[in-house]
Amino acid sequence: VDESDMTLIKMHEYLTDLYHHVLMHTNEGEEALKYLTDRGFSADIIKKEKIGITPNMRDFTKNALLNQNFSMESAYQAGLVSRNEENFSYYDRFVSRIMIPIKNHQNYIVGYTARSLDGSEPKYLNTPETPVFQKRELLFNLSDARKFIRKQDEIILMEGHLDVIKVKMTDVQNIVGLMGTALSGENINLIKRLASNVTLMFDSDNAGRKAATSVGETLLFEGLNVFIIQLPEGEDPDEYIEKHGREKFEQLVQKQKRHFVHFQADHLLDESMENDLSYTQNLNKLINYLKYVPGNTLKERIITHISDSYKVSKEHILSSIPSQTENVN
Ligand code: UTP
Ligand code: MN
Ligand code: MN
Ligand code: MN
Ligand code: MN
Repeated sequence: VDESDMTLIKMHEYLTDLYHHVLMHTNEGEEALKYLTDRGFSADIIKKEKIGITPNMRDFTKNALLNQNFSMESAYQAGLVSRNEENFSYYDRFVSRIMIPIKNHQNYIVGYTARSLDGSEPKYLNTPETPVFQKRELLFNLSDARKFIRKQDEIILMEGHLDVIKVKMTDVQNIVGLMGTALSGENINLIKRLASNVTLMFDSDNAGRKAATSVGETLLFEGLNVFIIQLPEGEDPDEYIEKHGREKFEQLVQKQKRHFVHFQADHLLDESMENDLSYTQNLNKLINYLKYVPGNTLKERIITHISDSYKVSKEHILSSIPSQTENVN
């Protein structure tokens, strides 16, 4: 972290305290505070995460930074203000939004994800790419979760920032949020250094299942053990906790973890039974996945499961698994 990076970080540290103060102690924050409270976020977690609000003004951040003798050029570089290219004036990027600070892996605040309060689009506005905020390098909450991930040798990945924050109110702490639904090479290398087990807990909707399939495949091919926690249709982790309570959530995380290949086998079964073409394609896909499952009890269990549900002999499956050296799809 060099000096100019440190200036960008200092702006974030200053603004985060200010936005948090506005949320907790002023009229401007009342509506947002009620919104967060109604969604089940406790005052404790709001403080701990330093959640804030930007008031409904075009120059709140701009003036706050100028008063602290920060330059508008630096604020622009930090993605905190936008620039009118016609008259070179600056105005706030974030207006009337719930501000969720994002920390880098050294625990410095480097950006925000900002939720609209009134349903205006986009729902979430994020800090753009800056010298200190490079999405491919970041995993939300990693600096807090790292010690739990190491201890449990497991990292749980989620889609949403508010999902991660809500889950932090439970006993489950080895959680991080993806910065978007794709996984960067940097993310993968980092995850591999931290844990050998990865659990995906994405939204139970089509977008979430699609993301779980592509992220899960990538991690499996990288040699990690990948598990899926499936939520009831239409729910995300935050909604699950609101609907079923914290204890149920903790039990779910303890008890319901299917291996990625087991999950895919179940997921692909429906379309396979009355369609011989899909049956063949899907079974071949599963058999290819099995190449990446280490030969152990779990592999035996998954093969038995596929054999039972796809009505194919275990011998056939075993003899079809491509060897590690061949590259068969
Ligand atoms: P979701 O639509 O599932 O949002 O998008 P959410 O996290 O459940 O948010 P709430 O509960 O409605 O407040 C999942 C993730 O996709 C990204 C965000 O990271 C979000 O958490 N996203 C979504 C954006 O970046 N921009 C958007 O406009 C929407
Ligand atoms: Mn979703
Ligand atoms: Mn949600
Ligand atoms: Mn969601
Ligand atoms: Mn099953």
